[in-house]
Amino acid sequence: MTARRPLVAGNWKMNGLSGSAAELERMIAAAGPVAAAGVELMIFPPATLISRLAALAAGSAIGIGGQDCHARPSGAHTGDIAAEMLVDAGAKAVILGHSERRTDHGETDAEVRAKAEAAHRAGLVRVVCVGETLAEREAGRAVAVVARQLEGSVPDAATGADLVIAYEPVWAIGTGHVPTAADILEMHAAMRALLRQRFGAEANAMRLLYGGSVKPDNAGTILTLTDVDGALVGGASLKAHDFLAIAGAYI
Ligand code: PGA
Repeated sequence: MTARRPLVAGNWKMNGLSGSAAELERMIAAAGPVAAAGVELMIFPPATLISRLAALAAGSAIGIGGQDCHARPSGAHTGDIAAEMLVDAGAKAVILGHSERRTDHGETDAEVRAKAEAAHRAGLVRVVCVGETLAEREAGRAVAVVARQLEGSVPDAATGADLVIAYEPVWAIGTGHVPTAADILEMHAAMRALLRQRFGAEANAMRLLYGGSVKPDNAGTILTLTDVDGALVGGASLKAHDFLAIAGAYI
């Protein structure tokens, strides 16, 4: 069994103004024990804050990433951000294919895959998100849907060093509902098996995060499940206390 370094990542979504730098400073100040336990910490702020927060976090235990990137390095794409721009701003990683982007912007698996390839060319770690809707789970299709998303969204050239998967059931995001431990175990085992079919032993080095209503009071249960290598945290990552309490499940 390959030892995978736990990753607790905070997705700030469309939240945060310049004053949020103070929250990151609180996180940096309190991250010591979690970092000493070997946990990797990342915050994914809105694009407007990446430069500022990356400068603040330089040399600290917290890495900074982007929430999306375009598949092309430059060009006539008003409002979009290239992977190279994220790197230039100080990002080390990028979230791709979050369900809110798949829903709000109609992103397809093929688009997510193209973005993931672009992110890799720019030198970013890719955090590729997958997850079924409630209707899909109730129809017994959760594993099949996630398998299709993994197959379509993850590029062929991927290693444990440059690819992270986040399993985020759409119905668990921001709702306070979480799957049972058995359902998380089943999905993460299925994802590991699919990645092994495609990437062989390298799949053992790929980290599989769970995301969707992770809070300090359920982190201990979720983060200790087999094949759960960390969490992608939304709402609870906006406060240093909650975010570090979640990561504290590893101490
Ligand atoms: P949540 O969001 O923790 O607020 O449910 C998770 C996510 O969407 O990454």
